[in-house]
Amino acid sequence: MSAGVNRTVLAINGQFPGPLIRLNRGDTLLINVTNQLPNATAIHWHGMFQNGTNWMDGTTGITQCPIPPGQSFLYNFTVQKQFGTYWYHAHNQVQSSDGIVGPLIVHAPEELQMQQMYDFDQIVLLQDWYHDMGSSLLPGYLASGNENNEPVPDNGLIQGTNHFNCSSYGDGGDGYTCYDNSTMAVFSIEQNKRYRLRFINTGAIGTFQVSVDNHTLQIIEADGTVVSPLTVHRFEIAVAERYSVILTANQSSNTNYWLRAEMNTFCLGENGVLDPEVLALVTYTNTTTMPTDSADWADALDDVCQDLNNTLLSPAATEQAPPADVLYEISFSFEIGDYALDVARINGTSWTPNIKNPTLNQAITGLHTSNSSFTTAGVSSAFSENQLVITLPTVQVVDFLILNFDDGAHPFHLHGHVFWVMATSQDQYFPWNTDLYSQMNSTSSNSYTANPMRRDVVTINAYGWALIRFRSDNPGLWAFHCHIIWHLEAGLLMQFMALPDVIKSWTLPNDVQSLCQS
Ligand code: C2O
Repeated sequence: MSAGVNRTVLAINGQFPGPLIRLNRGDTLLINVTNQLPNATAIHWHGMFQNGTNWMDGTTGITQCPIPPGQSFLYNFTVQKQFGTYWYHAHNQVQSSDGIVGPLIVHAPEELQMQQMYDFDQIVLLQDWYHDMGSSLLPGYLASGNENNEPVPDNGLIQGTNHFNCSSYGDGGDGYTCYDNSTMAVFSIEQNKRYRLRFINTGAIGTFQVSVDNHTLQIIEADGTVVSPLTVHRFEIAVAERYSVILTANQSSNTNYWLRAEMNTFCLGENGVLDPEVLALVTYTNTTTMPTDSADWADALDDVCQDLNNTLLSPAATEQAPPADVLYEISFSFEIGDYALDVARINGTSWTPNIKNPTLNQAITGLHTSNSSFTTAGVSSAFSENQLVITLPTVQVVDFLILNFDDGAHPFHLHGHVFWVMATSQDQYFPWNTDLYSQMNSTSSNSYTANPMRRDVVTINAYGWALIRFRSDNPGLWAFHCHIIWHLEAGLLMQFMALPDVIKSWTLPNDVQSLCQS
């Protein structure tokens, strides 16, 4: 096994990580998923807008019933109005932590200009890794009376591989079969060539701080948004985020260099076997000799657990953020019960997927019967108490002010959209007593509205807040959730329903519908 310790891995077409899906904008993707797992599954295309194909979003309990074992389902959608670095992953239980992940790259003519900046285009997958199945770790995490006890990864992988030091398990091996001959990833580069490295964090919980010794990096894309080049020594990448950077091979070829993906231990609990310094070799000479003269950057590592500062990122295609038509305040926290399972609550609601009757199916049925509870703006009363759904009846600009009442940082992802990151803060409360909100909500251009970063994941600081803004013009039921796989299982997910009048005209395709009949 590539990462030292034997374990069961969920593979796609026999591959881990899953195969690269690469397409041009405007292409229709046809992906036939045959489920050979013992459990049901669904595959989500992270970051795809799915405008008009909400039921292809692959989200168990929201846009589909999961694909039962032994059955196939054809995902069929057209990728429009976007290009860049995306990925796909299982969106059912904790299957993505066991290997159901892979890269998804969309090309477009606009890339021609970016391509002047690089000679090679390379994907770099980062992920944390456990030596046990997610399904066997989950019950311990959800069990009553243990606070903040997320399973801590045992290793970190680059391109699905890394060395693991077997002696950390002691003489008995702790029940694991470990091989010391596991390998690390090697990136062979050529003097004076420029490399676009598309980093994707496909992990379960871990945030990485990425750097290449002696080489500066230029960030040119984040979550599918092209940005004005930002030169950094190190950058932080949370679960589900993507960054493209340019590495220029302009250093001495007399030594190899380390690519470092340092797992941020401030975002995690303790695990004695985890070596957070995850390494790959960068070589000008196509050799695997250990670096002799490779220097890490002196810049301090992040001891807070936060995103790369989004105010440093400016979309290359500038766009002023319009003022919001409506603001929703969303606060979340964990409830640690002595007798009950660990649950996360968003505005009081803890999510459990309805795998037999997803919210999209419920909405279509309800709207067909002209049930007005499905069209009333705001927090919907149409769904059961474990579904927090906000109804957005018209095309409008929406602010979500998310308040984190938990002591950990949480990378939140919005399905089907990109949002403007208007501001993030480490303070617990939004400063309503200042003019901050009126500045952010101004029709004129200022430092908040001029050209804020647009992306699909943002980390909400521990005991902090974030204000994100998006244009709600994509009909469907869309998830907004923490991408830490354990927190999703604890219920840290909400949804919104956009444009019920359009949803009302929908009939689910037969194959989507029939997943719910099995
Ligand atoms: Cu990357 Cu709800 O997913």
